[in-house]
Amino acid sequence: MSPRVLDALKRRLGGGSGDPTPGADGPWRPPLVPLKLKTIDEAFALPAVESVADLGGVWAVEAGYSFHALENHAPERAVLVDDDITAGVRERAAAFPQFQLLEQNFGLERTPADVGPIGVVLLFDVLLHQVNPDWDEILRRYAQHAQAFAIVNPMWSPADLPHGTGDTVRLLDLGEERYRQAVPPQDNIDGLFDRLDEVNPKRGRPWRDVHDVWQWGITDADLRAKLDELGFVVAFAEQHGRWRGLADFEDCAYVFHRA
Ligand SMILES: C[S@@+](CC[C@H](N)C(=O)[O-])C[C@H]1O[C@@H](n2cnc3c(N)ncnc32)[C@H](O)[C@@H]1O
Repeated sequence: MSPRVLDALKRRLGGGSGDPTPGADGPWRPPLVPLKLKTIDEAFALPAVESVADLGGVWAVEAGYSFHALENHAPERAVLVDDDITAGVRERAAAFPQFQLLEQNFGLERTPADVGPIGVVLLFDVLLHQVNPDWDEILRRYAQHAQAFAIVNPMWSPADLPHGTGDTVRLLDLGEERYRQAVPPQDNIDGLFDRLDEVNPKRGRPWRDVHDVWQWGITDADLRAKLDELGFVVAFAEQHGRWRGLADFEDCAYVFHRA
């Protein structure tokens, strides 16, 4: 799905706060990415995975990956954590008594304990947005509670370097020109570099630290090294070429489980 299609979806969902559009065969559902569905299915194939926490599962997909897990894997418990939970998600979630919704930042110190012991933590297109705490600290905090991680993320693989040789970068440090070249076009990039130290009123933190913009280029090697350090091994990994046509990111999916 291109960023433009995602924006169109978001508009169709009323800026992320409306109900799904009804269709002829029932409520309209946002399209889901097959690689993400496959990654969930791979995680639930692991014996220790009987519950799921979907961190940042709402924008443009209306918790579709949580509902896929609920409808196809009958987890004993499911938790969705997102800063912006919509009315449509709440309405659909009401049919699943084992599904808990937490409308809060999943990077807060207390949130992993609020989620509790969990089979698999889904991190789909969210790790690259995490600052203060950074993506690797998020992994460390949830590793204490999780049996597995399912991660789908655009991974940093800069086009101007031999494959596999780049370092993880804070994208804003690249400067505005290179930043714009690397990441998808988004309305909130206009003027971003002029207001990095201004507080974003919705998030209560400077713009340079909000999860609404692309923050990190994380390399495949650094992600694997972090999970290895935390005591997790790879159960599944696929790489699907350039992420939505971007020259510097690859479309990668992983399941890691506790060794
Ligand atoms: C790019 S969307 C990804 C949505 C979905 N996981 C997917 O794969 O399509 C990011 C979502 O994560 C949420 N989010 C990102 N960082 C967050 C954080 N630290 N705490 C709570 N929600 C967060 C945003 O509100 C948004 O709903």
